[in-house]
Amino acid sequence: MKSSLEVKYRVGVIGCGRAGTGRARAFDLHPLCAVAAIADTDADNLALGCERFGVPGYNTWEEMFASEEIDIAMPVLPVRPNADAVVASAEAGVKAIFCEKPFTNSLADADRMVETCSSREVHIASGVMVSSHPDYQKAYELAASGEIGEVRRINLYENNAQGGCHGLNLARKFAAKTPVETVTGRVEGDPFSDYEEPYEEGDTGFGGVGGTIRFANGIECFSSFGDVPWRGIEVVGTRGVIYNRNNTSLGLTLLKAEGEGPVKGVQDLTVVEGVFEEHSEEPRGFDDEGWMDPGPNMREIVRALVEALEAGVELPVTTGDDLRHALEIALALRESHRRGSDVSLPLEDRSLVMYPQKMRWYYKKDLHGKEWYAEQMAKARRA
Ligand SMILES: NC(=O)c1ccc[n+]([C@@H]2O[C@H](COP(=O)([O-])OP(=O)(O)OC[C@H]3O[C@@H](n4cnc5c(N)ncnc54)[C@H](O)[C@@H]3O)[C@@H](O)[C@H]2O)c1
Repeated sequence: MKSSLEVKYRVGVIGCGRAGTGRARAFDLHPLCAVAAIADTDADNLALGCERFGVPGYNTWEEMFASEEIDIAMPVLPVRPNADAVVASAEAGVKAIFCEKPFTNSLADADRMVETCSSREVHIASGVMVSSHPDYQKAYELAASGEIGEVRRINLYENNAQGGCHGLNLARKFAAKTPVETVTGRVEGDPFSDYEEPYEEGDTGFGGVGGTIRFANGIECFSSFGDVPWRGIEVVGTRGVIYNRNNTSLGLTLLKAEGEGPVKGVQDLTVVEGVFEEHSEEPRGFDDEGWMDPGPNMREIVRALVEALEAGVELPVTTGDDLRHALEIALALRESHRRGSDVSLPLEDRSLVMYPQKMRWYYKKDLHGKEWYAEQMAKARRA
């Protein structure tokens, strides 16, 4: 337990549920941070969170902000309330926010979230994903610094669900966050459906989203949702390749040409060992206090947010603005199919929406029942 003198950043948890508990633990583990209060609309989750962290609880984020000085807000919620929670946190005067992904379903809400934060100089990180892992940060730098020659092409094997927060976000980062000029897109199902899978409210789903994405620096990304047995990325340069056969876990590989000779194919490239960590299937363990390890991506997000606050540096992890761009690219790909033509970015119509899967949009206890939810909540601590 830290003394109040050691705690520089008081963390306000908004949603201490299935995912929020472990994310909150990651902040508690940082020497300068401590969970200070919890807001949750579910009385059971609130009581359990307050007991686990030894902090006061509130039924709404409004009540929490009215009663507590919060430096870092952590909305880890069903996606539906994300936009209001992020905007309310920034308006309440927090210095930094971590919000889970998908960020939101709507471009107008993404604009509102990002602009409210940036106008108040509030840092916002979003989503516990490999895109924030130090290995990926290293890989973006290697690509940008010419380690694989000039990056020309990015191949994505992805259905780009969740508003493109995995694959499209990675592609944009490997393209040095250069603006997208145009896209030519296709979707798997009905392009006029708002839904990625058939909600009861919708007739059809549009399924996978893919196509060609042209960045202003000349890099072209081809994103295919076809039936391949992996979901990965290849960043192809004139003198090498960086790839991973998985867009949600570690396992990057760097292939490079040795010497100065011409590169006519992969036969001229050699794997460079020891650059990246290997993917491990080992389940995350529990620490001495019985808490499940929050994992390297979340630990890195907390480290980066604190460094941004301490040193004023930009966030190297995935931000709210990154996920706004990923959502915009996914929407543009679907718009292209709808219109039967190329689509230029930025999208003028900010009212466009793309819903995540039902189980991410709604509260999971309402979908899966009390018993299932209680089992999930128990997983954060060793029995
Ligand atoms: N990055 C990842 O790998 C990963 C993994 C799991 C979940 N997630 C994301 O994390 C988010 C949360 O997931 P979850 O499984 O914990 O969701 P969940 O449905 O279990 O809900 C989380 C908590 O939010 C609370 N809540 C709902 N509405 C609220 C409101 N208006 N105010 C305050 N509290 C409210 C619920 O009571 C619950 O305690 C989702 O967006 C999900 O997509 C990401």
